[in-house]
Amino acid sequence: MKFFIDTANLDQIKEAQDMGVLDGVTTNPSLMAKEGITGHDNIMKHYLDICNIVDGDVSAEVISTDVEGMIKEGEALAALHEQIVVKLPMIKDGIKACKYFSSKGIKTNVTLVFSAGQALLAAKAGATYVSPFLGRLDDISTDGLNLIAEIRQIYDNYGFGTQILSASVRHTMHVIDCAKIGSDVMTGPLSSIEGLLKHPLTDIGLAKFLEDYKKGN
Ligand code: G3P
Repeated sequence: MKFFIDTANLDQIKEAQDMGVLDGVTTNPSLMAKEGITGHDNIMKHYLDICNIVDGDVSAEVISTDVEGMIKEGEALAALHEQIVVKLPMIKDGIKACKYFSSKGIKTNVTLVFSAGQALLAAKAGATYVSPFLGRLDDISTDGLNLIAEIRQIYDNYGFGTQILSASVRHTMHVIDCAKIGSDVMTGPLSSIEGLLKHPLTDIGLAKFLEDYKKGN
């Protein structure tokens, strides 16, 4: 399973990249605003900064809601750097734009997906990635992981090449459950990746090894 980090924070992106386990980055307008990145030129520069840190795909979201606007924005984003993936909202015009970009060989990520039907449409339109938001479903007492499993089954039934990018991952158990289901990618905060390191028996065992080494030297 690929690990993407879901942030526009350059320090956290560097931290994950330095661990050697990072496969890409996802961003959205809210994550950009959280880092104080506003205005078209600053946002475009920030995407470039991110691409210069990581080796993999970097999702950059359009803010237009009509197909013409999405195509114009998406083409500018794709021209910015070869690692950019055009992130499109799961609405009718987003699906039209997805079909346009996939026919041109430009990578896409269809976002704000909350149902298996939406994921099926995104795959039919040739999306590179589909982003079901599992944490936000959990937030409203709906089983987000069940959606990931449904999409896995549908895509496997027909051999769709669209990669399931489990998004709105909040913690390490989401990461592990996504891996069990067979999600192609997960995107979450740095804490969801670093949390995978933790086990008290590892810390106790290491302390004992070091203590015993000192006794013999
Ligand atoms: O990748 C989607 C993500 O940014 C949404 O996460 O935690 O705001 O639901 P969250």
